[in-house]
Amino acid sequence: MGDIGGMLRIKLSNRARQTPPSPIRKLAHLAQRAKRAGTGVYHLNIGQPDIESPEEFFEGLRLFKQKVVAYDLSQGNEALCSAWSRYVNKTLGLNTSPEEFLITMGASEALVFLFMTCCDPGDEVIIFDPTYANYIGFAAASGVTLVPVLSDMERNFALPPLEEIEAKMTNRTRAILLCSPNNPTGTVYTDTELKFLLDLCEENNIFLIVDETYREYVYDDLEPLSIFHLAPRNERVIVVDSLSKRFSLCGARIGCLLTTNPEVLSVTLNIAQARLAAPTIEQFASAYMLDHIKDGYLEGVRREYQARRDTLYQALSSVPGISAHLPKGAFYVIVRLPVDDAERFAAFMLEDFSVNGRTTFIAPAAGFYMQNSKGRQEARLAYVLERPDIEEAVKVLEAGLQAYPGRV
Ligand SMILES: Cc1ncc(COP(=O)(O)O)c(C=O)c1O
Repeated sequence: MGDIGGMLRIKLSNRARQTPPSPIRKLAHLAQRAKRAGTGVYHLNIGQPDIESPEEFFEGLRLFKQKVVAYDLSQGNEALCSAWSRYVNKTLGLNTSPEEFLITMGASEALVFLFMTCCDPGDEVIIFDPTYANYIGFAAASGVTLVPVLSDMERNFALPPLEEIEAKMTNRTRAILLCSPNNPTGTVYTDTELKFLLDLCEENNIFLIVDETYREYVYDDLEPLSIFHLAPRNERVIVVDSLSKRFSLCGARIGCLLTTNPEVLSVTLNIAQARLAAPTIEQFASAYMLDHIKDGYLEGVRREYQARRDTLYQALSSVPGISAHLPKGAFYVIVRLPVDDAERFAAFMLEDFSVNGRTTFIAPAAGFYMQNSKGRQEARLAYVLERPDIEEAVKVLEAGLQAYPGRV
């Protein structure tokens, strides 16, 4: 009965059935139930920025005066490609041109397109475990086999040693996909690590795809680093980018892929034409925003996330039994908890525990690992709450750990 779809008993695809549910949303129904029962929930589980979207985006929306909301170009709105190119050239010192951009519905669509462009079904892409869990879904949708190389919490999730990556290369490997700054670990890969991957891709004649969704969110002494700083015109390099996190615009669904490789652009455009276009009004408003946003906007947001990271790290450090590393970027950290099973603990927090009518929602980390049995005691925390709430959320977590029957 497992493969029969509902009352109609019509078979559904293995591809869909084998796509794992998002580890972030898996327990969402328990959070809903807790809220319905009147419990307040601190969401440390999901990377939904709470900082207001820039006023310039809303101004752009108001300026949209066309009488018909028509399809835009499949490659993307021309003004947006130009504005995005100008923006990264100005803020990062790059030398991109608008024709090197292909606008997509979020980084998500860019990643699906790239899997389809770079791979035939059964071809392989190397990723680093733990990974952004939706890569697994994108790969399932496009028939790509993801090959994970384990990165270690003990080594702050740094790039695994060369021999371990090389050992995973086969004649079906088409690309290495890296996310930096990283979701879910908060690791920022160094320029040495990026160069090292670039060399490996050169040697094996494969693509290097870098997901730079969180590029500007780097802390302490770090500067935003794009792979294009290291390999400006390298045709095996493809950047995936997004406005979702950087400008708190997750719902606008605007992302892009960026490459100097004309063949990748033109073949991907064939696929993009089949879905016609990204949303017209959001592209219009995004172009206006990128051209008008104040210089200090991102720096202000970056500082706020850094302060939240410090608050979270400090709060976690005082909880007996929790181990965490100091994340250098994005707005996530993976922690190890003194529990038998982090998913069971997360469910316990939502179903059976609260302090003064509030509980804390964490994302169990096992779902971010492709290798089964990894991450069972780990959870991913996202610091997208204001600092006082982060402090309270950790206090509730600590109390929950003390009350949890499966504590180890
Ligand atoms: C690493 C990473 N890549 C891509 C995405 C998807 O972003 P978008 O909203 O642009 O589709 C996310 C969203 O959480 C992410 O964390």
